[in-house]
Amino acid sequence: MNAQHVSTVDLATLLAGLTLEQKVSLLSGLDDWRTQPIEAAGLPSIELGDGPHGLRKETGVDMVWYPATCFPTASALGSSWDRALLRRVGEALGAEARAAGVQVLLGPGINMKRSPLCGRNFEYLSEDPVHAGELATAYVQGVQSRGVGACVKHFAVNNQETSRRWVSAEVDGRTLREVYLAGFERVVTAAEPWTVMCSYNRINGVHASRDHWLLTEILRDEWGYTGAVVSDWDAVHDRVAAVAAGLDLEMPGNDTANDGVLLAAVASGALPQDAVDTAAARVLALVGKGLPARAEPGTVDTEAHHRLAREAAAQCVVLLRNEHATLPVDRASIATIAVIGEYAARPRLQGGGSAGVLPTRVDLPLDEITAAAGDTVQVRYELGYQDLSRVDLAGVDGTVREPGAAARDRDPRSDEDLVADAVRLAAASDVTIVYAGLPLSAEEEARDRAGIDLPAGQEALLAALAAVDTTLIVVLSNGSAVALGPWHERCAALVAGGLAGQGGGWAVAQVLFGAVNPSGKLAETYPVRLQDTPSFLNFPGERGQVRYGEGVFIGYRWYDATGIAPRYPFGHGLSYTTFEYSPLRVRVSDPDAGTVEVSLTVSNTGSRAGSETVQLYVGDPEAAVRRPVRELKAFEKLHLQPGESQRVTFHLGNRDFAFYDTGSALWRREAGEFILAAGSSSVDLRAQAGITLPDDPHIPPLIDDDTLGGRP
Ligand code: GLC
Repeated sequence: MNAQHVSTVDLATLLAGLTLEQKVSLLSGLDDWRTQPIEAAGLPSIELGDGPHGLRKETGVDMVWYPATCFPTASALGSSWDRALLRRVGEALGAEARAAGVQVLLGPGINMKRSPLCGRNFEYLSEDPVHAGELATAYVQGVQSRGVGACVKHFAVNNQETSRRWVSAEVDGRTLREVYLAGFERVVTAAEPWTVMCSYNRINGVHASRDHWLLTEILRDEWGYTGAVVSDWDAVHDRVAAVAAGLDLEMPGNDTANDGVLLAAVASGALPQDAVDTAAARVLALVGKGLPARAEPGTVDTEAHHRLAREAAAQCVVLLRNEHATLPVDRASIATIAVIGEYAARPRLQGGGSAGVLPTRVDLPLDEITAAAGDTVQVRYELGYQDLSRVDLAGVDGTVREPGAAARDRDPRSDEDLVADAVRLAAASDVTIVYAGLPLSAEEEARDRAGIDLPAGQEALLAALAAVDTTLIVVLSNGSAVALGPWHERCAALVAGGLAGQGGGWAVAQVLFGAVNPSGKLAETYPVRLQDTPSFLNFPGERGQVRYGEGVFIGYRWYDATGIAPRYPFGHGLSYTTFEYSPLRVRVSDPDAGTVEVSLTVSNTGSRAGSETVQLYVGDPEAAVRRPVRELKAFEKLHLQPGESQRVTFHLGNRDFAFYDTGSALWRREAGEFILAAGSSSVDLRAQAGITLPDDPHIPPLIDDDTLGGRP
């Protein structure tokens, strides 16, 4: 096959010339990362590779990875609310994948953050499907603009790691559509990712890898997806059922074990041959998109990508608390700074598992703070606590070491001594910056957390420092929400630095000293305690089932509906400047179609440039079903100079007002009042307006009779 120019005709001709055996061979990989070649037809392999925030390409059996830019993890990128940024990061990721000879990058991960306990929340963008879908669309468009395919994952309802290969997520139809499928629908229809990765888990009893309703009726028949569905690795339990369901490519390869199974199924009539032909055509089309399948070494500017990693991290930093304008630190008014915490010297960049990246370099927070503080301020360091889960990172087990976490021996001091030494330094310092956060062991693939507190050693340290006469600033390195101890009320400032990749150390230092005005907003609610969370009674499930008992009331929807006050709400993030919102101007352009235009002006009323993410929420107070108080339907990040104003206009459509009615299997907008609210967070609503819309005339009226409430 002429690798330069592969046309649809070529592929159709090639497919027509393949034997059944050759077609079947295409339906599973050659090895861990490559598709099956067909030499006789001149068809090469293409390569798939992790991961969502940086390329993880193994150099061989020793699990050592090639260095690649470690961008902020999805949980951090989600806090940027910046489509343009996600696109640029996607472009850089695509360029690095292409240079390394990888034709499909296995990201983004867009599973909803149903519980902060999920070990892979660091890999996911949001607790809201519109927010996740919009940002993932930009990311996919970025990656694919470089001629590399993206792979939106894990489709679907993979919201925990516990028993992930067999647990059945028991979810009602409305919740599936409105929450757990909605983000995928948005990305698939807007960005057409080359591949969709099916998840490990079951959905209402059926493994995603063999779920015809999911992979064909929803993904293809309803959403019109034409790309290839790839399995999560080893997620296929029944290869024949999987092909029949619409799963095209089983990964990794399995030494053709399943080829014989498929051939026998076709021979016996258990599997129609056209199912094989359809899957083979999709895999062939995928390979065709990936050609020429060759590396392009030397085509990546590593330093430019590091600068982008820094810039991206700076856009993700969320300023949660800033009492008496403690931040930015005023160098002129202080002489000494204490920097405390292991993560200031050995930063937490990312979570563990398949998404891991070996960074090209790492900005160390302590170095960056020292540089940013300047010559007139003395910066001193104390360990404060130890994260012993990483002492052996460079150990003989071959675990790839995070360069920023250069292995070290256990510090001989006791935890008590570490705290005492930290308190002593803080007491002698004008400002104390504590780097706290979650250990690698709390945020990795294949396991969930048991709780959301910070490690005990860190809580003890923070409690002790809260009693010291110093200006206490806490920086969190975490990929999912944490509960904050009593020290929280005593800290002057609190910064969510997230798992922000190799440039995070630089980025937070720029925010602390004011070179960067923070603009991040939370993409996940921070609860006061675990018991307040929506899934508390139903996580991680039992006896092979996890009931999504909270229904559509995930994340901020739960806290709004129950009145339980979160510690920090979805969409929250402070700035060093202030913003004013004008009243909304609303125009119902077509009542029957449900098209509504909402505009407002946002002004920077402070003294320095800053960025503000305007969030637009829609509420439907009177409905046939219980609906969230409000749901995010649009957002825009504005960059404003001091005194500058900008008008922003949102265009809402029917789906933005509709709920999914399982009884009639329709998205249904009901007549009545809708409340539109523009806010700086999901609770800091700055401008509201009510509108009235008629019933959707294009669908039959809502009825209540014995057709409802059928078995799911
Ligand atoms: C893993 C992950 C998936 C990853 C794949 C390849 O188990 O679930 O996200 O892309 O296998 O490593």
